[in-house]
Amino acid sequence: MKKVFGLVGVAALTFALAACGSSDKKESSNQLKQIQDAKVLKVATSADFAPFEFHTKVNGKDKIVGADVDLANEIGKELGVKVEFMDMEFNAVLTALDQGKADVAISGISATDKRKKTFDFSENYFVPEQLVVVKKENAEKYADVKALADKKVGAQKGSVQESVVTSQLPKAQLVSLAKVPNLIVEVKQGSLDALVLESAVAKSYVEQNPELAIADAKLKSSDNESYAIALKKDSKELKAKINKVINKLKDEDKINEFIEKNTELADKQASK
Ligand code: ARG
Repeated sequence: MKKVFGLVGVAALTFALAACGSSDKKESSNQLKQIQDAKVLKVATSADFAPFEFHTKVNGKDKIVGADVDLANEIGKELGVKVEFMDMEFNAVLTALDQGKADVAISGISATDKRKKTFDFSENYFVPEQLVVVKKENAEKYADVKALADKKVGAQKGSVQESVVTSQLPKAQLVSLAKVPNLIVEVKQGSLDALVLESAVAKSYVEQNPELAIADAKLKSSDNESYAIALKKDSKELKAKINKVINKLKDEDKINEFIEKNTELADKQASK
């Protein structure tokens, strides 16, 4: 009798261990499976950031387009699902991911060490530079960072540009706004003296707004600022699939192609 109990005990323990092992595995593959079962990848973004994500009209209908959208569509193809964008303020993008409202966040997001504590990140797909955007007529005035002391300098709320301003322009007055196009308007109107934006984005808005220019004042950039896709922690299988797509696109120089194509599109739309 005793022996039987012993065997049952061992069997129960083995079963428990096996169950535990498989549930661990399930945990990480679950997300990929859930997305594939739902046949849709929900992407949190802040579509105020040409050429990565911005609104445009296609046949009179509002549409979110951009290099991140092209990237997301490639991922959708790889996963065999359609892609659905959820547009919100940048400040809310990572929260939406954290709360499970979105599967991933693709929004020109810098994979900072701080954010890596809460989220997983894919491979980097773009390395930006930090640039200063000013009114064209003031461009010469802001030839170095010293000239920005005591000035009103804008940054998007919740973005790394806020800390670029506070750490590299400590004497400037930081003004945080939720949406990039609003910051652009403020610079054009002169209520902001300057605005910190990343390359590609700065270039796109300056192209769209001929009264603006990129100042010569040089800010430091860091590896911490490279763009990557944010995922929930432990999304191993999903991350592997996403990395496969990113690496392929990088090898084929497609990301740069997406950026160029969408910079042109944003420019065309602005000059309409
Ligand atoms: N790269 C910066 C950051 O991660 C800014 C990103 C802003 N993205 C946007 N879609 N508005 O903080």
